[in-house]
Amino acid sequence: MTPTDSELLELAREAAQHAYAPYSDFPVGAALLFSNGRVVTGCNVENASFGLTICAERTAVTRAIISGEPNRSERPRIVAAAVVGLKAQPCYPCGACRQVLSEFGCERVIVAEHDRAHSVPFAELLPYAFGPDSL
Ligand code: THU
Repeated sequence: MTPTDSELLELAREAAQHAYAPYSDFPVGAALLFSNGRVVTGCNVENASFGLTICAERTAVTRAIISGEPNRSERPRIVAAAVVGLKAQPCYPCGACRQVLSEFGCERVIVAEHDRAHSVPFAELLPYAFGPDSL
C-alpha cells in the first residue's frame, strides 16, 4: 500500500536516527517514494573534511540506485521525497539535493511543519531546472 505523507515523514525521522553528523549535530533523514512503490531512506554522512559531507537525500538516491534491479533501462522516478531534520523543522532540501532529486523527476517534497506534513510541488523548489531533457 502506498504510504501516506505522514508515514513517509516518520520513515525519514527513523532514518535520521542513523545520521553520522558529529560536526554539525544536525541529523537529517530522507524517505524517497519511487513510482514502483518502493521507499528508500537515507541519512546525512559527514566527514572531517567538511565539504565531503553527503546529505540525507543524496545517500537515499545512491542507495536506491545501487539496490535497483540489474539491467533496468528506465530512469527511476521519485514520486515524493520526505525530509526531516531532527533539530529544526521544516527542513527543505539544499540546492545540491534539489538538483539530484530533479534528475529522477521528483514530483513533490514533504516536510514537517508544526508537526504536520506539508507537501510542496517540486517545480516551486527548483523552477527552470537543468535536467536530462536540457542536454
Ligand atoms: N543536510 C542534509 O542532509 N540535507 C539537506 O538538504 C540539508 C543539509 C545535512 C548536511 C549536514 O550534514 C547537515 O545537514 C548540516 O548542514
